[in-house]
Amino acid sequence: MSAPELALVLIGFGRVARRFVRLLDETSDRLAFACRIVGISTRRHGSVVDAAGVDGRRAAAVVEAGQSLDRLDPAPLPRSGLDALRSAADRAAGEAAQGRLVAIESTVLEIERGEPAVSHVKEALEGSMHVVTVNKGPIAFAYRELAALAGRVERMLLFEGVVMDGVPVFNLVRHTLPAVHVTGFRGVLNTTSNYVLSALERGQAFEPALREMQARGIAEADPSLDVDGWDAAAKTAALVNVLMGGAITPHQVQRTGIGGIAAADIRDAAARDRRIRLVASARRQGESVAARVEPEVLDRRDPLAALDDTENAVYLRTDLLGEIGIVQRSGDLTQTAYAVIADLSAIARGLATGVVR
Ligand SMILES: NC(=O)c1ccc[n+]([C@@H]2O[C@H](COP(=O)([O-])OP(=O)(O)OC[C@H]3O[C@@H](n4cnc5c(N)ncnc54)[C@H](OP(=O)(O)O)[C@@H]3O)[C@@H](O)[C@H]2O)c1
Repeated sequence: MSAPELALVLIGFGRVARRFVRLLDETSDRLAFACRIVGISTRRHGSVVDAAGVDGRRAAAVVEAGQSLDRLDPAPLPRSGLDALRSAADRAAGEAAQGRLVAIESTVLEIERGEPAVSHVKEALEGSMHVVTVNKGPIAFAYRELAALAGRVERMLLFEGVVMDGVPVFNLVRHTLPAVHVTGFRGVLNTTSNYVLSALERGQAFEPALREMQARGIAEADPSLDVDGWDAAAKTAALVNVLMGGAITPHQVQRTGIGGIAAADIRDAAARDRRIRLVASARRQGESVAARVEPEVLDRRDPLAALDDTENAVYLRTDLLGEIGIVQRSGDLTQTAYAVIADLSAIARGLATGVVR
């Protein structure tokens, strides 16, 4: 049987999406599916929709040269993300009907309502596309509604890259922990904050450490989302919504960022053989879930205290297996791009086995 070909519409074409198109090329000989990009939409770098296929590497080079993707479009039009999704659904209607059209949402996190990403995901599902999102917004703000819609239209909604990049958290629970209830978790989920706290411990200053995370493409487009704890709160909401059956938004996560931590606090903790880490946690409280993100002074024996620089971890509390730790020792754009490839592989597997039609 020949490998299925997925048609891709990329909504957002920033650092993650451009690393993804290159990683697709680099790993094509390992993948049991092929891909054809049929659309790309950006906010300030134009858009292209071409059912015959768009050269992803060329598109990346165009954006990196500061030019507009419109020049690659056979009939260029000003298009929003929603417009691009509608034209792709129209021009690749055959692929959509066969369950081979996939929207990849990688626009920036918007922390008021998760928009326009939530609308992008709705539009894509309503256009019979599967959705892969690395943007936390849709899962942190509207998971229940979007998962129900995906179920109704019989398309997949996947989001492994939302927490700890490509390291399996959601897929691990989904595929390997049947009948297990997650009753809570504790973790260090924001790479930028952990890097800044580690730098402060080394005697470095806050701002240069933050700038380094921006230069490496790891900090959010607006780094105050990292420093103020919003990114970690969005990941916490996503974990609560997906793994604990909650229906919260990042605004319901009690949140304190790392902005108020001074070098003296770090030195004081170190003198007591302790470390400060930005800890995200959730636990059941009757019918609801209490979730928080805040800097904690940790004993050295706490596994979260062992996390340096760009390391992340989440410890899931479960009813049948006790505590399960998932640790990410290195995280960068390749890991996030890999999350998209892992999710596409799940869709291709679904097509090959007839689970997805
Ligand atoms: N970077 C990481 O390590 C990492 C890790 C995990 C998850 N993520 C998540 O992945 C997503 C992308 O991150 P990134 O680092 O690639 O961000 P980025 O480099 O800032 O790229 C964002 C892309 O989205 C486009 N965009 C923004 N608003 C849009 C809209 N309304 N419609 C269409 N396109 C829009 C931007 O277009 P213009 O450039 O033209 O404005 C750009 O192409 C974010 O949600 C982030 O939280 C990132």
